Amino acid sequence: MNSQKEIVVSGIRSTGYLHLGNYFGAIRNYVKMQADYDCYFFVADYHSLTTHPKPEDLKKNVFRVLAENIASGLNPEQAVFYAQSDIPEIPELYLMLNMLAYKGELEKVPTFKDKVRQQPDNVNAGLLTYPVLMAADILIHRAVKVPVGKDQEQHLEMARNFAQRYNNRYGELFPEPQAFNFGSQLSKVMSLDGSGSKMSKSENENATIYLADSDEAIRKKIMKAKTDSGPTENNSEKPAYIQSLFDLMALISPPETLNSYDTAFNACTIRYGDMKKQMAEDMVAFVAPIREWARQLQEDEESLRTILRRGAERARESASRTISLARKGIGIQYYS
Ligand code: TRP
Repeated sequence: MNSQKEIVVSGIRSTGYLHLGNYFGAIRNYVKMQADYDCYFFVADYHSLTTHPKPEDLKKNVFRVLAENIASGLNPEQAVFYAQSDIPEIPELYLMLNMLAYKGELEKVPTFKDKVRQQPDNVNAGLLTYPVLMAADILIHRAVKVPVGKDQEQHLEMARNFAQRYNNRYGELFPEPQAFNFGSQLSKVMSLDGSGSKMSKSENENATIYLADSDEAIRKKIMKAKTDSGPTENNSEKPAYIQSLFDLMALISPPETLNSYDTAFNACTIRYGDMKKQMAEDMVAFVAPIREWARQLQEDEESLRTILRRGAERARESASRTISLARKGIGIQYYS
């Protein structure tokens, strides 16, 4: 890899189906980054063990996420794309960092507190140390940029703290990773039910469009999106749920289409039924090729395995360099 480029790491959760929010919020940005940075993207399968997935589902989930990301434009020839569990240096660094992470600070993390509320019967140590594993994912490649959403910024701050603690104690090794902020380019995709929440992997499935949805499912979901009887005054402000529909249309339809409905809205001649029909067709045209490619990839397990193997090889080159330095720093160096 070209070592002149900055190093980027990001992990993709292997639970749930990818939806438009993931596509426009994250994957599209990964695709843009792959040319300009040394990118390491991985499926965070170890992280998913905190919720005890069934063994027979684990592989299916990993292969699906891999296929859906490739079908969305992630190029495994360019970015290094691998499964977290294929890199034994990650759990090794995780163990080292655990000695620098304090129980008190881990218990205060909002995502941990949420999990304690959501699954009080399964508050395992893996949940508590989730941010330490995430820090190991990032620091193993000595990454400087991490493209993540707002909800992950606290985890990133902890990764910086752990990096600093290692450096202070054992000597400079890790740069401090920063959140990669796409600023205004970051698109939020709102749920179709007008609830004001974002499309989500687990909630409001009927108001979320998944990359695996059939044409029929897409049409149905869009036709059911919340609207009203239309504006009664020219140039009025759009209610939030109508604005969300326009925002979604802006992502998938040609600008002329969007403009014509915008003009109709301002003139109070808009027919939401027509707008939704148009949107449904544009959405089908957008999603169907991704869905079909992802499906073909998932049927070709041998290719997916080759991609994973090759990705693991490349990721381990970088990971093994870091781990030998980390061991040396700590003083684990008995044979030379
Ligand atoms: N915690 C991230 C999420 O929930 C996934 C993740 C795991 C990750 N390890 C990472 C993201 C390392 C960026 C870097 O989305």
